[in-house]
Amino acid sequence: MCPPKFFEVTYAINPWMDPSKPVDVDLAMAQWQDLRDTYLRLGHTVEEIEPQLGLPDMVFAANSGTVIGGRALGAKFRAPERQAEAELYRRWFVENGFADVVMPSEINEGEGDLTWTGDVLLAGTGFRTAQEAHAEAQEVLGVPVVSLRLVDPRYYHLDTAVLVLTPARDGEPAEVVYYPEAFTEGSQQVLRRMFPDAIVAGPDDAAVLGLNGVSDGRNVVLPAQATKLAEQVSDRGYEPVAVDMTELRKAGGGPKCCTLELR
Ligand code: ARG
Repeated sequence: MCPPKFFEVTYAINPWMDPSKPVDVDLAMAQWQDLRDTYLRLGHTVEEIEPQLGLPDMVFAANSGTVIGGRALGAKFRAPERQAEAELYRRWFVENGFADVVMPSEINEGEGDLTWTGDVLLAGTGFRTAQEAHAEAQEVLGVPVVSLRLVDPRYYHLDTAVLVLTPARDGEPAEVVYYPEAFTEGSQQVLRRMFPDAIVAGPDDAAVLGLNGVSDGRNVVLPAQATKLAEQVSDRGYEPVAVDMTELRKAGGGPKCCTLELR
């Protein structure tokens, strides 16, 4: 995770961002600290990277890479405003025990668009990560990749439309949540085939970035406003844990965006 010390909205690269609206950095920091403390309270380990002035979106650690089995595939950002983040995170990986880092040659926004289900890497495209990056991820990480196409600019990253609750294990498929309307008809069909028992999220939860959550297989950290989704996961036996991320949502991010999982 990266503390939002230099967070601001000075450019707009997704429909959530409006540079004319003020952001409260102190509130963003307090909400971020609450997310970090929530992970610690749930027994997880949190590593932090030093934020850098002039990189207001660096708080969105999820976009900086994809780590599976100790190998890290770094990022290559689409927006020029974010491109410098990739090298800072690459250095962090190398200096923190992830010597096996490969930097992508195609546009690749890390876990923003790449979601590991435990046996397959779901890979989003349409707004940010290039379709060609999916094949590259498959070669570098050595895992099967399934491409999914996003169609709604509000859900510009895959992690705004899909959330893995429990990874696949011992031949059992992953349990996931997704918001169908974020995808093309063909990609919706793929999701239905792969995850017939998925939780299907509704538009109200999607519209508060409710699917941008983080699950450890038991606790599901969700934006506080995603009340219906909290009920849905609770009905499946999970423990919903609400966090308020309204300030970072002004940049189009939620709890998952602020979190890069180190596997
Ligand atoms: N302002 C950032 C951008 O548009 C938000 C990134 C959110 N991260 C995510 N994993 N969805 O790039």
